[in-house]
Amino acid sequence: MSAHGQPVPLTARAGAPLRGEAVVPGDKSVSHRALIFGALALGETRITGLLEGQDVLDTARAMSAFGAQVERTGEGAWRVRGVGVGGFAEPEDVIDCGNSGTGVRLIMGAMATTAISACFTGDASLRRRPMGRITDPLALFGAESRGRRGGRLPLVLTGAADPLPVSYRLPMASAQVKSAVLLAGLNAPGITEVIEPEATRDHTERMLAGFGATLESETLPEGGRRILLTGQPELTGQTLAVPRDPSSAAFPMCAALLVEGSEVRLPGIAMNPTRTGLIATLQEMGADLSLENLREEGGEPTADVVARFSPNLKGVEVPPERAPSMIDEYPVLAVVAAFAEGATVMRGIGELRVKESDRIDAVARGLEANGVRVEETEDSLTVHGLGAGGMPGGGTVATHLDHRIAMSFLVGGLAAKAPVTVDDGGPIATSFPDFRPLMARLGAAIGETEDA
Ligand code: S3P
Repeated sequence: MSAHGQPVPLTARAGAPLRGEAVVPGDKSVSHRALIFGALALGETRITGLLEGQDVLDTARAMSAFGAQVERTGEGAWRVRGVGVGGFAEPEDVIDCGNSGTGVRLIMGAMATTAISACFTGDASLRRRPMGRITDPLALFGAESRGRRGGRLPLVLTGAADPLPVSYRLPMASAQVKSAVLLAGLNAPGITEVIEPEATRDHTERMLAGFGATLESETLPEGGRRILLTGQPELTGQTLAVPRDPSSAAFPMCAALLVEGSEVRLPGIAMNPTRTGLIATLQEMGADLSLENLREEGGEPTADVVARFSPNLKGVEVPPERAPSMIDEYPVLAVVAAFAEGATVMRGIGELRVKESDRIDAVARGLEANGVRVEETEDSLTVHGLGAGGMPGGGTVATHLDHRIAMSFLVGGLAAKAPVTVDDGGPIATSFPDFRPLMARLGAAIGETEDA
C-alpha cells in the first residue's frame, strides 16, 4: 500500500542489460537487533548503515515507547540511549509493529521478564501470523499473554515479575523464536538454555556477546546448536556498523543473472554462513557469481558480489537442511528456477507458509499466472523451468502485503517474454525503500502500472 493506503501496482518489462553497482541497504535482522540491544544496554549505542525501512522504523518507535532514547543523527546513522536489562518502562499506548514478525517477536522476548504489560498489534499480514511459537516459551519464564484465537495479534503480554531461567528446545528452525527466548533470558537469574534443531541465523548470539553478555554455544552432532546464556548481565552501549543485507541483495543479483548482457557489482554484502544458502544454490545451478574482497565489517564477514548474465542455468534439488540459511530467498529462487533447464525442487520449506504471506502459495500462484508449471505440497515446491525460453509472463501477481513476493516477481518481469505486474509494490518499503530507484539506475524498467 502507499502512504495513503491505496495499493500501488507495478509492472516490470524486459529491456536493456543491467549494469553498474548496486549499493543495497543495511541488513534487516541486524538493524532490528541493533536498536533493541541498544535499548537494553546502559549508555549510548551508535549505529551506522541502519536499514531505514518501515519494519525497522517501527522497532525504533517501539524502543522509544519502552523508555529508550532513540534519535536519528544522519542518513542511516542512529543513536540509542538504553535503559539497561530489566529497565523497560510500560508503554502508554499500543505497540504497532506494522508488517514485521521479527520486530514484534524480538520485542516480546525483550519485555517478557520485566513486570510490565504491553499490547502488540500489526498490519493485516502480521495479524494473521502465529505468535504462540513465542508466547509458549515466554510462559515458561512466567510471562502471561492473551491474544486472539490461535495466539494471534492484537495480543497483551505481561512480563514475569519473578522470572525463572528456562531450558527450551525449539520445535521449529526459527531465529526469531531463538532470539525471543535469549532476550527473555537476559533478565532471568541463572542460565537460560536454547537448543535449536537446525542452526539458524546467529546475529543475536554474535551481537549479544559484543554488548557484553556471556554466551556459550556448541554445534550438536545432529547439526543443531545448544546455546547457554548467563542471565542479568550488564550490557554496555556499542558502536555498530550494519553490513548490507544479503536478502535484499538477492533481487538485483538474481535480476543480473536473468537479463541478457548484465553485470552488476554488489559491494559489502554480509556473508554470515547462516545467510548464504542462496549463493550456494545459484552456484550449483550454474550462475556466474563471484565473491571478491572477502573481509570482516562490523563483526560479520562481508564480500563484494559480482553477478553476470547466466544463460545456462540448470534446475537443482535444494537440500532441506539448507532452508534456514536461505529462508527468505525461496521466492526469488523460484523465479530464477523458472528460467532454468529442468525442475528445481525445494523441500523442507513449510516455514514459508507463515511468513509475511503463505509464500509457497503466493509463489505457486504467481508463477502459474505467468505461464510456469509448479507442484506444491504442504512443505515443498517444485518449479518446472522453461530453460532458455524463460518465463512467458503477462500475468498479474497477488502479493498479499509481502515485500519479497513483489520484488521477486518484478525481477522475473525484467527477463520474461511479456511484462509482469504485481498488484501492490507498497510493502517493498518495509525492507528495501530504495528498490525502484536502485533498479532504475542499473537500467531496469519497473514502473507504476499505468505508465510502465
Ligand atoms: C529473521 C528470521 C527469519 C526470517 C526473518 C528474519 C530474524 O524468520 O524469515 O525475515 O531476523 O531473526 P524465522 O526465524 O521465523 O524463520
